[in-house]
Amino acid sequence: MFSSLKGKVCVVTGAARSIGLGIAERYAKEGAAVAMIDISSEVAAQADRISQEGGTAKGYILNITDRDAVFACFEQIVKDLGPVYALVNNAGIVDQRPFEEITADQINKQMAVNVNGTLFCAQAAVKTMKALKNGRIINFSSKSGKTGSALMAHYSAAKGAVIALTHALAFELAQFNIKVNSICPGITDATGVWNSVSAGYTDNLGLSREEVIKTFTAKIPLKRLTDIEDVVDYVYFLTASGEYCTGQAVNITGGREMH
Ligand SMILES: NC(=O)c1ccc[n+]([C@@H]2O[C@H](COP(=O)([O-])OP(=O)(O)OC[C@H]3O[C@@H](n4cnc5c(N)ncnc54)[C@H](O)[C@@H]3O)[C@@H](O)[C@H]2O)c1
Repeated sequence: MFSSLKGKVCVVTGAARSIGLGIAERYAKEGAAVAMIDISSEVAAQADRISQEGGTAKGYILNITDRDAVFACFEQIVKDLGPVYALVNNAGIVDQRPFEEITADQINKQMAVNVNGTLFCAQAAVKTMKALKNGRIINFSSKSGKTGSALMAHYSAAKGAVIALTHALAFELAQFNIKVNSICPGITDATGVWNSVSAGYTDNLGLSREEVIKTFTAKIPLKRLTDIEDVVDYVYFLTASGEYCTGQAVNITGGREMH
């Protein structure tokens, strides 16, 4: 059973482009009031476009690593749209280099955005979700958070931490009927992360872009990369349904990751 999202406040981080934008568009199509957060000012233009097309969306420019700013932003969202029903912690960054070269600054940056930012947004959202006695938090991990990826040790560590964080929150928030799950996409076509990762493989492995795509597609049982809509469908399922589902880390990898 899918419940209606009409009028429900759904917050998406990293919503200026790629997967986050796709999720915001689906939520708006389903009638939700969508708060779109991003560090990039492009998020405001995308929210305006969605509103002009008949949806309810508002853009918020925010760096999710700044805890005070996160709390202030969520207070504003509640004032503008109402209490938060769903939070999608999609904003994330990737970096690729041999692990022996990773500096303290580079690993701190991975943790600050992928882990700390996810935790801060969840803290701020839960304040309002508890009152609803119903809510959803969907955190973005990765296939790399389960089976780590070579040349992305710091990203893999951060995304593994997101899964452990999801487990802890699922235990802690079940009493408020807040379900907390994570999403583990495989290589997702037409996204910022894949653009950066494929360029990294080209540099680090000395392969052409076509060879990189061929090599990675060959490892996927369903023989294609993930599409943004594949991910959006699961996020929608976990938001509008998934009543008995918490603490899970769902793979959307065409079978590349099975655990
Ligand atoms: N694309 C993939 O192949 C893939 C695979 C597995 C997991 N993921 C995860 O999915 C999520 C989305 O990936 P994508 O490829 O769509 O990303 P993307 O790079 O295309 O978009 C990420 C968005 O997050 C925003 N952002 C970055 N740092 C921020 C900050 N500090 N505060 C607020 N916003 C910030 C960026 O401005 C950008 O708009 C990420 O968490 C990523 O790790 C992606």
